[in-house]
Amino acid sequence: MNNVILEGIAIRKVFGGLIALHNVDFAVQKGSITALIGPNGAGKTTLINVISGLLRPDAGCIKLYTTVISGLPSHDIARHGIARTFQTAQIFAHMSVLENVMVGMHVRTRSGFFSAALRLPHVIREEHHIARRAAACLETVGLSNCAHQLATSLPIGSQRLLEIARALAAEPRILLLDEPAAGLNTQETRALGELILRLKAQGITIVLVEHDMELVMDVADEIIVLDFGKKIACGPPLSVQTNPDVIRVYLGQET
Ligand SMILES: Nc1ncnc2c1ncn2[C@@H]1O[C@H](COP(=O)(O)OP(=O)(O)O)[C@@H](O)[C@H]1O
Ligand SMILES: [Mg+2]
Repeated sequence: MNNVILEGIAIRKVFGGLIALHNVDFAVQKGSITALIGPNGAGKTTLINVISGLLRPDAGCIKLYTTVISGLPSHDIARHGIARTFQTAQIFAHMSVLENVMVGMHVRTRSGFFSAALRLPHVIREEHHIARRAAACLETVGLSNCAHQLATSLPIGSQRLLEIARALAAEPRILLLDEPAAGLNTQETRALGELILRLKAQGITIVLVEHDMELVMDVADEIIVLDFGKKIACGPPLSVQTNPDVIRVYLGQET
């Protein structure tokens, strides 16, 4: 099977004198879960930032199918159907859980500021659609019961799910998750794994940055291993797990 939806070619990102990504190539199959692993500082978040347009690569290119998306501003990349969550959950403090998800839909709405301010009929229809869609996303992640609570009142595990719900509200084809299990307990991590598999079953392609190896091995179809900005291995979980370079990198850590 070869149905590459997202491809990176020789991605390079330099911060001052530090090469955070060293000519990284990668390919993500449509409908798969691709895990991006590696020690702290390996360049995982930088790669997610480059894919989502938060950072521009210094060299190389990223393609969504045949369309070059690297260099586009992040809102354009979002409009192409690429959504993300952040390593540290980004929650709007003074909004309800539902409103936090509705924020994620602005990439899909058409109403301009003035027609929204005038509350024209198509705007009201659109608002209803937004609220319904946001509620459905909360349902998907299991947060329907908390829709009207203040988002900051949620425990950390639920805040991470809320961020996923917000990303889903943009109706992405590709979802980039940056350490979604950080701060979750074992039970919450297991539930997250099930959620990720359900999203895959809905046809969403997932790129998962994760430290929890049990979660990675449970859900990933492909694993890409970064170390000091270089891709040192990629392949299915079993082959990566037994790759001597990967073992060396992980044994070198304090874990
Ligand atoms: N905005 C930045 N400015 C300078 N250095 C950065 C910046 N972002 C990341 N880095 C550096 O790039 C390297 C890779 O970081 P990062 O992508 O966050 O790693 P990971 O997510 O794998 O832990 C690290 O050495 C980090 O300190
Ligand atoms: Mg990171």
